[in-house]
Amino acid sequence: MIAEETLFPWPDADPIEAFIAPERIVRVDHVLRRRLVSLTAVFEDIIDPHNVAACVRTCEGFGLHDVHEINPRHGPHLSAGIAKSAQQWVDVHLHQTTEGAIAALKAQGFQIWVSDLQAEQTLDELPVEGNVAIVVGNALNGISETMRAAADRRYILPMYGMVQSFNLSVALAMSLQGVVARRRAQLAHQGRLGDMSMDRMWRTRQRWLEFGVRNAPTVRKQLAAQTKRD
Ligand SMILES: C[S@@+](CC[C@H](N)C(=O)[O-])C[C@H]1O[C@@H](n2cnc3c(N)ncnc32)[C@H](O)[C@@H]1O
Repeated sequence: MIAEETLFPWPDADPIEAFIAPERIVRVDHVLRRRLVSLTAVFEDIIDPHNVAACVRTCEGFGLHDVHEINPRHGPHLSAGIAKSAQQWVDVHLHQTTEGAIAALKAQGFQIWVSDLQAEQTLDELPVEGNVAIVVGNALNGISETMRAAADRRYILPMYGMVQSFNLSVALAMSLQGVVARRRAQLAHQGRLGDMSMDRMWRTRQRWLEFGVRNAPTVRKQLAAQTKRD
């Protein structure tokens, strides 16, 4: 059993906490401690913005912090209704091309795992080691040949019905269900709840706390000026 209160203290107290309900601060800290940055999801050339929003919401729910969108057709504004504002809690990285996304992910040490109807292995046959990026393709054409060629692993989610494929956000959820559980078990073994660095958690915490404060930048300035005077 991990004693949560021993995992912090933060490097500093954040003065903006004075403007936020204590339960909200507890909730933010609870979620941050469980954030996963060693797993990410990649949406390749998704045409329907509702699908992108559903994928972002799924990732946030699983505790992923970074998601990647290739060939974003919808700008940074995803369908807010479906994402239920999930996008404000994750970092969405936009890539104009599949090649650019692959280069960026590889540079960050991610293996590329492609969910692919043409694959033969299943997800539970793959060892979850190191950083893993799960890729889903678009509803019409699936995964691109470029992505398929760059994949370290390809897997299929077995199907037993008449339809040929799952909706991509469903496929993503099924993929994350398997991979996230195994990564969390590995972390628990090391006495950890998540794997975001302390520095990034702190910066994210500052931003998240500001969501609950009207005119947060002004409030921060006033607090800083007050601290200088004191
Ligand atoms: C609606 S499917 C795409 C179907 C597309 N017509 C094709 O031929 O690939 C959208 C994406 O969800 C993922 N997906 C859906 N069902 C899957 C399955 N059974 N196994 C692996 N991936 C799946 C894949 O990433 C796929 O590119």
